[in-house]
Amino acid sequence: MKIEQLYTKCLAEATYYVESEGEVVIIDPLRETAPYIAMANADNARIKYIFLTHFHADFVSGHVDLARETGATIVYGPSATANFDFHVGQDNEEFKIGAITLKLLHTPGHTLESSSFLLFDEAGKEQCLFSGDALFIGDVGRPDLAVSSLVTKEELAAKLYHSLRDVIVKLPDNIIIYPNHGKGSACGKNMSNETFDTLGNQKKVNYALNPKLSKEEFVEQVLDGLTVPPQYFPKNAMMNKVVNTPISEILTKGLTAITAEHYQHYLAIKDVLFLDVRSPEEFTTKHIINSVFIGLDGTFSPWVGELIENINQRIILITPVGREEEAITRLSRIGYDNVLGYIKGGVDTWEKEGLKVNKLNTIVVNDNKLLDESCSFLDVRRIGEFNENSLKYTKHLPLSHIYLADKELDKNRAQYVYCAGGYRSVIAISILNRLGFNKLINIEGGFSEIKSSSKIPLKECRRNCPTCACSD
Ligand SMILES: [Fe+2]
Repeated sequence: MKIEQLYTKCLAEATYYVESEGEVVIIDPLRETAPYIAMANADNARIKYIFLTHFHADFVSGHVDLARETGATIVYGPSATANFDFHVGQDNEEFKIGAITLKLLHTPGHTLESSSFLLFDEAGKEQCLFSGDALFIGDVGRPDLAVSSLVTKEELAAKLYHSLRDVIVKLPDNIIIYPNHGKGSACGKNMSNETFDTLGNQKKVNYALNPKLSKEEFVEQVLDGLTVPPQYFPKNAMMNKVVNTPISEILTKGLTAITAEHYQHYLAIKDVLFLDVRSPEEFTTKHIINSVFIGLDGTFSPWVGELIENINQRIILITPVGREEEAITRLSRIGYDNVLGYIKGGVDTWEKEGLKVNKLNTIVVNDNKLLDESCSFLDVRRIGEFNENSLKYTKHLPLSHIYLADKELDKNRAQYVYCAGGYRSVIAISILNRLGFNKLINIEGGFSEIKSSSKIPLKECRRNCPTCACSD
C-alpha cells in the first residue's frame, strides 16, 4: 500500500494518491491529469476510482478528464447531482483498491454531499481518514459556501456538528487525518501549518472537536468571523458539476506562441488582458503598458480568482521562459481557461516592435531621505495584518478591495504603496495604473523594510474597518 499526499501550496490543497496491488484511487484531483497518470504508470497500476470528498468551490477538479483518460469511476457522496457519469456513493459503502478497502462516511456540513473516506489496510485495520473539508488540521470547513434555498448556513453548521460528533470522533484516536486543505485556504479560517495529524491530537487541540461545546455554541463559533468568500468560489463550484473544456485543449490553445508579426492582430482583439506572471522585480523594471501583474511565485491562483472578475476573460500571458505551461495549468485550476497564447520573446521583443512599455516607480526605505512621515502612504495588506501593526499615518485599502480605489483614493496625489514584502503592492499598482492612478510609488520590500526604518512612525490601528485612513 502506498499513500501520497500531493500538496499544492498556492491553493493550500491536498490531493491523495493511494495504491495497492496495482490499483489506484485518486482523491480530490486538481485540474491537470498527467501527474496522476504518470504516477500510476510508474507503479504499473491502473486508476480505478476518483473520489471527490465534495463539490469543491476553491478549484476546478479534473475528475471528468481523468475518468475519460483512464476509465476510472468518479465517486461522490450521497445526494450529489451533476451532468456527467458518476457513482453516487452511499454512507458506509465500501470500495476495494487492491488489498485495501476505503469506506465512504457521509459527513455533511461543509456541503450536503460532503463525505470522508476511511482507509482499512490489508489486515482490515483503520489507518487514516481522508476528511475532505469536514475536518481540517486545527479547523473545520466553512458551512456557508453551499447555502441554497433548501438549506441555511446554520443548518449546515449543525449537520457538521453531528458529522464530527457522531461519526469522526468515534473513530480510533491513532488514525491519521488527511484533510483537503491547509493554512491559507479560504475554505476555513484558522487552519494550522501542518497538513496531517492524528485524530487523537486533533481532539486535544482543534476547537471544533471540544467535547464541551454544545451544538448551539459550535454553530456560533464556526460561523463567527467568516469573511466574504472570493468571487470565483461559486463559479468554480458550478464548473465542478458540469463537463468543462478538456485540459488538453486548454493547453494547446494557451501554448500558442504569439510572435512579433501577430502582435497587432492580438492587440486588435477586444477585451484581452495582458497578464504578466514574472517576478515583481521584472515587472517593475519593464512591462507591457496596461498589463496586470500577478506573479507565479506567490499565491498566484487565489489572487487571479479574486481580482480578475470575468472567469472567461481572454488572457495573453507574459511568462518567464519555460513556465508557459505552468501558468496556463495554474489558471485552469481555478477555471480561467481562456488563454489565447503567450508573448514569444517577452517584453523586450514587444518593445523592439515599437510598442509601448512602462516601468514602476519604486523607492527603497533606507536609501532615500525623501521617505518620511510627511509622505502619503497606501497599505494594501489584509485587515488582520493592518490591525496588528501599521504606519501611524496611512490609508488602508486591502488588495482584495482594490477596485474601490475610485471612491477611496485621490488620483492626483502621489502615494507610496506597500504590502508585507512587495508582491501584493506591485499587483495593486498594476491594477491602479489601469484605473488611471499614475502617481504611485512602490516601496520595495514592503512593511518588513519599513519596520526596520526609524524614519516613519508606527502605531497600532485601533479601528476595525476595511478601508480606513488612520489620522489620529
Ligand atoms: Fe471545500
